[in-house]
Amino acid sequence: MLFTKGVLMFQKLHEPDPGITIEIDGVPAAAEPGETVAAVLLRQAEPWSRLTPVTQSKRAPYCMMGVCFECLAEVDGVASVQTCLKPVCHGMRVARHRGRRRLAT
Ligand code: FES
Repeated sequence: MLFTKGVLMFQKLHEPDPGITIEIDGVPAAAEPGETVAAVLLRQAEPWSRLTPVTQSKRAPYCMMGVCFECLAEVDGVASVQTCLKPVCHGMRVARHRGRRRLAT
């Protein structure tokens, strides 16, 4: 998937209710109660969730229903969370996966 830097691929039809703020790679992002982390990721200027382990290509949420696993990211320190199934909550910290995951020893 190609991304054009700085161009939003998705945006809400209305201004998001600024009730919830999450952090994506250390950058605050507005979110609304009831939406998923993947939905917030797709509204960002860089709407990807992970880099592939082999080619380091960017992948973004795709199916939005827990089937494709393209939306995996780290959420509050937990790796490989399907962000399309994870509702946002205030103060949530999201980190995009960058390449191969390490196994805990
Ligand atoms: S977007 Fe397909 S599993 Fe999350």
